[in-house]
Amino acid sequence: MEKQAMKFLITAGPTREPLDPVRFLSNRSTGKMGFALAYAAVQAGHEVTLIAGPVTLESPEGVRRVDVETALEMLSAVEKNLPDADVYISCAAVADWRPATYSPVKLKKSGMDGELRLVRNPDILKTIRPQKGNRIFVGFAAETGMPEAEAKRKMLEKGLDFIVANDVTMPGAGFATDTNCVTLLFPNGEKSFLTLRSKLEIAKEIVSRIERLR
Ligand code: CTP
Repeated sequence: MEKQAMKFLITAGPTREPLDPVRFLSNRSTGKMGFALAYAAVQAGHEVTLIAGPVTLESPEGVRRVDVETALEMLSAVEKNLPDADVYISCAAVADWRPATYSPVKLKKSGMDGELRLVRNPDILKTIRPQKGNRIFVGFAAETGMPEAEAKRKMLEKGLDFIVANDVTMPGAGFATDTNCVTLLFPNGEKSFLTLRSKLEIAKEIVSRIERLR
């Protein structure tokens, strides 16, 4: 059977939640896994839109890139691009919280009391779940130790076709590395363990699992 080209929408990298013009909350994500997925999907003949948080990586050739900074900006870019997508891979490490207020001028320590009030960011996957239709949704779960139970919970809560569970404390896995070692978990209980290998090899495997779901 001939392979059908699909339209992939992928998020990658961290989000950055500003407190004032010089300070922000963020996380250790570098975008490497999401960019590897974008590269692997283009190489496999698919169309790719990559929504990237603040990262220092070059876009893979042939990828349409949309740069965002905050979780709210990432959500609106996803909502805008989802109608045209067949596949959504939520690889970004979206900040769950943002400062409750933004100061347009640099805050002075004399004016601060040592407490930072935060508000919850929306969960992007949960927000767009009603628009899933026939689309394939894939999520990631970065955990510190024993990722499977938490990943399974997230897969079911977010209505995913599969989730990539990642123990970021394992040597060679997680943020900023060029390698990773993950388990793919499926709603029917199937599991596929991908031993330590390059993020590109992991990405190729994820893209080929998605092609087989179609
Ligand atoms: N995610 C999302 N929107 C958020 C947070 C996470 O879409 N605001 C997506 C991530 O891109 C990932 C999946 O949800 O595909 C799981 O993210 P993770 O940070 O591991 O889990 P959380 O849902 O934030 O749960 P918890 O804080 O309990 O670990």
